[in-house]
This record gives sequence, structure tokens and C-alpha cells, in this order.
Amino acid sequence: MNIAFQDRLQERILEMGKKGTLKIQRHLASPMDAKVVMEEKGKIIILSSNNYLGLSSNKKVIRAGIKALKKYGAGTASVRFICGTFSIHRELEEEIASFMKTEAALTYVSCWDANMGSIPVIAQEGDAIISDSLNHASLIDGCRMSKANRQIYKHANMTELEECLKKAEGAKTKLIVTDGVFSMEGDLAPLPEIVQLAKKYDAVILVDDSHGIGVMGKTGRGTAEHLGVLGEIDIITGTLGKALGGAAGGFVASGKPLVNMLSQVSRPQIFSNALPPTVAGSALQAIKVLRDKPELVEKLHSNVDYFRGQLKKMGFKPLESKSAIIPIIIGETSQAIKLSGALLEEGIFVTGFGFPVVPEGTARIRIQISAAMNKKIMDKALKVFNKVGKKFQLI
Ligand SMILES: Cc1ncc(COP(=O)(O)O)c(C=O)c1O
Repeated sequence: MNIAFQDRLQERILEMGKKGTLKIQRHLASPMDAKVVMEEKGKIIILSSNNYLGLSSNKKVIRAGIKALKKYGAGTASVRFICGTFSIHRELEEEIASFMKTEAALTYVSCWDANMGSIPVIAQEGDAIISDSLNHASLIDGCRMSKANRQIYKHANMTELEECLKKAEGAKTKLIVTDGVFSMEGDLAPLPEIVQLAKKYDAVILVDDSHGIGVMGKTGRGTAEHLGVLGEIDIITGTLGKALGGAAGGFVASGKPLVNMLSQVSRPQIFSNALPPTVAGSALQAIKVLRDKPELVEKLHSNVDYFRGQLKKMGFKPLESKSAIIPIIIGETSQAIKLSGALLEEGIFVTGFGFPVVPEGTARIRIQISAAMNKKIMDKALKVFNKVGKKFQLI
């Protein structure tokens, strides 16, 4: 053991502790729901999960996971192309493609992997990537993994995007990369404008809609559905670890040639195992529940509207958005973490985010609403926001 190495790391952790920027790990002892049992605190209301539709504790979703576990066992114990894949993977991929209205889909063990594994295949040496400045870290890292020339445009700024597209002239593939719903702001990518520009400059669009699928659009098909451009996005990536059951897993939904190419050469596909069957079974069922009950999306938005409206009535100034993410900017990271601690003292779990998750000086708390919440729970949480908000002079 190199003790000096571990000591150096410990020093850095202590330093983060002194600055008040250390992330605190909490432990939950019950399924994700509107209320959870936190080992450190007892029963609390959770406003920091991506369980937007409440499906991670849905009985049908849990039963489907158990059924798949019993049928297929724990996993494939190797990589797909070496040992084969389970039929439930194919079923899930067909269901994702049909739900997203694309020709085909391919699953990964996470959306992190889907982004990292697909972008370097889509855009290669001699190609161009043009990426929104507030894209999720997995898109950023996916772009870094590509040998294509990379440009970044100011968040949602279509003038800059067009300038980048002009600069990319001559590249065989020009790939525009954006989140659908931006995870830290909650705002939406201007997809209709992006589609127009892509047509004008013969570009390809990749949208990571991890926070949009199950949330945006009348039937939960995401930001493209909400903005009327479903079917006009070349590549949609998303997670199965948020609205769609909340376990884990990600996917790329696109045309058959891209999906076939990814299964041939995408590094996580050929060097890493497929999704565990329990996860595939639960996610498959979650999509079926969403298909059968699109009113869950409506319930989610009526909860979001209520919570957001009440916060504004109290005097909070959340960032405006149409998604289920309600960020309140605090400024200093340590202050956002302190605020989160004070809310937890009162039984409300909301995480404070600071640098490097968000730019320096824009630390925030991010409230996330779920269809699993009812008015009584929301009113209880709002009462705490009123009390703590006054204490921190936010209202
Ligand atoms: C926009 C976006 N993309 C990708 C991911 C990664 O998803 P996963 O947990 O499936 O790796 C996240 C998760 O935070 C996300 O918010």
C-alpha cells in the first residue's frame, strides 16, 4: 500500500470539507417514492430524485424485474457478441424504438455509456461536432472521446450554432449535440430551430433526452414530442434510470444502420456486459405502464405547476422552465449545501449543487417533482420551504 498516496487524497478531501463543498452521502432504506426512509434522518419527503412518474416503486415494474431475474438469472456473464444476449434485451430495444418512433434502438448499461459509446462512432476524424455549452457531462465526455473537430456554442444560442455550422463546412458529418431538457437549468433545447439549421446545413442531430422522456410531451415521448419535432431528430439517447423505472440503463434510438454500426463497433457494446435482466424487465414494464397511463405525465405537470406556483407566491424566484426541474439559484456552493442541510433538518431532502456540476457562483438547489406526490405532501414541503427560505433570507 502506498500510504502517502492515500494521505494526499485525504488532504484534498479535508480541504473540500473546510470549504463546505463536500458532498454528503445519504443512505435510503426504502424504495424511492414521494417519501423515503433515510437511515440518517428517518422518514422524509424527497425532492431530489428523478423518479418523475413514481415508477421505481410501481408494483408492476417491480414484479416484472423479479420475473426477468427468475427467468434469465443474474446476467449474461459476458459481452453480447461473445455469449449472446437475452431475448428480453431484444424485446426492450424493440419497445424503446417503437415508443420513440425510431427504426431501432440499442441499450447500454447506462446513458453515460450510451453517450460515451455512440458519439465517437457517429462523428469521426474529419467530421465536426457542435455542442451546447451546458450539455450533460456524459455528452461532453462523449464528444471528447471523438476524433472529430469540436466546437461549443453558447447555451441555446442559435446564432452561435449557425456560425459553428458555417465553420464546419467541408466536414462529412456535422453532428449537433444537445440535451433535450437541461438537467441543471430545467430549460428545453430549442429543437424546432435546431432542426431548421440542421436541414439548412445538412447536419445530424443527437438529443440526450434523459430528463425529457416520460416528462415532456402529451404521451411522455420527450422534448421532441413537446416541441412538435418527434421524427425529425436523427439520434435520441436517454436513460432508463429516471422516469422509466429508475433502475439503470440507457439507450440510443435511431435508424437501423446506426444501431447496427454501434453494435459492431461501439466500445461499451463490444467490451462490456449487457443490462442485467431485472433492469431490462423493469424498464420494459415501465414503458408499458407509461403507454397505458399517459395521464401520469399530466399528473406530474399539475404537481409541477402547483409547487412552482406556490414557491413563487412565497417570493422564491425559481428558474423558469416547462420541465419537472425547479432550480433556485443560491450563488455560493457552501451556501447551497447549508440550505440543503437546513431543509433536511426539517424533513425535506433537496440536494445543493455547486461547482463543478454547475458553473462557479451559480450554486443552486434543484427541486424535482414526481407524479407520486399528492397535495398533502407538497403542502408539507412548501411549509418547510417558507420557514427555511425566510431563515436564509431568500424570501
Ligand atoms: C442529461 C443526462 N444524460 C445522461 C445521464 C446519465 O444517465 P445514466 O444514469 O443512465 O448514466 C444523466 C444523469 O444524470 C443526465 O442527466
